[in-house]
Amino acid sequence: MIRTIEWTDHGVVMIDQRALPMEELYPCYTTYQEVADAIQTMVVRGAPAIGVAAAMGIALGIRQIRDFPSDVYEGKFEEICRTMERTRPTAVNLFWAVRRMRVLFERVKGEGPEEACRALEQAAVNMYHEDIAINKRMGFFGQQLLPQKGTVLTHCNAGALATAGYGTALGVIRAAREVGKDIQVLADETRPFLQGARLTAWELAHDGIPVRIICDNMAGWMMQQGRVDCVLVGADRITAQGDVANKIGTYSVAVLAKENSIPFYVAAPVSTLDLSLSWGKEIPIEERDSSEITHIRGKRIAPEGVDAINPAFDVTPHKYVSAIITERGIAQAPYLESLKSLAEKP
Ligand code: MRU
Repeated sequence: MIRTIEWTDHGVVMIDQRALPMEELYPCYTTYQEVADAIQTMVVRGAPAIGVAAAMGIALGIRQIRDFPSDVYEGKFEEICRTMERTRPTAVNLFWAVRRMRVLFERVKGEGPEEACRALEQAAVNMYHEDIAINKRMGFFGQQLLPQKGTVLTHCNAGALATAGYGTALGVIRAAREVGKDIQVLADETRPFLQGARLTAWELAHDGIPVRIICDNMAGWMMQQGRVDCVLVGADRITAQGDVANKIGTYSVAVLAKENSIPFYVAAPVSTLDLSLSWGKEIPIEERDSSEITHIRGKRIAPEGVDAINPAFDVTPHKYVSAIITERGIAQAPYLESLKSLAEKP
């Protein structure tokens, strides 16, 4: 199994996703500040994975402050949570994970710092295991939508690397293959960070799942040629109306899928739903440094003095979404009703 993130006695060990597929590095992070930096700089990325990383970061942080005087202890804990929340704005799983840790802290803080450390560490580890179980459940539901034989186009990386393990969209593909379906994958390269070319291709090849890479601008042509049976992506935040924020370029793929009468599926856990927002335009979209576009591996590829714009996500309006696969079942339009009923399901 691919080891994305792990809680150890020494700290949080994460595969450095910036180095893949050239190098497989597993640095160990021992402070909450280091974990926050790892999230910001994309050592770890993908909505569920950064949620788990933030929870583990908070569990490290509370260890760092356990001997602080009681009058500053709670304020310091809040500072740790805020540091995590400031790392990346779009994936709601991060805020969901921090909220869970805050609620737990409120419950256990009266029992003393040692007990708070133990409880928060246990909660972070539980979140890790829960995430894998949730992805397998999503796979169980989602694989039923895939044909017995066919090609699935995916964008970005919604796989084991983007979660604690198994993956959301790629988890559905894994589940389909486990039940004997003959599924091949077309991975959009996903400029500028190349999550498709570097990460999706690496993890599927690692598991022996047939994968080929295409440049982002080839998706429409492949669909028009009848070489794509469905599109399957993950999500960073889904509103009550079913609008889906995901990696930049997803919206274009969804429009192309509709134009070519190809189903466009989204796989995401319930923790990715943000029912406090109605519409996609309310979702905060992260703008990353323009050097991610003007440079490749530190080498400038654009003319000196020319800048770039780097929105990291876009929003696909719900009218393009054929179904949303969650661990509690599959939602279809009208999403306002179907997502609410899944969110309320025990
Ligand atoms: O910027 P990233 O790599 O964190 O963006 C990741 C994505 O957009 C994924 O598709 C999304 O988080 C779903 S991951 C299961």
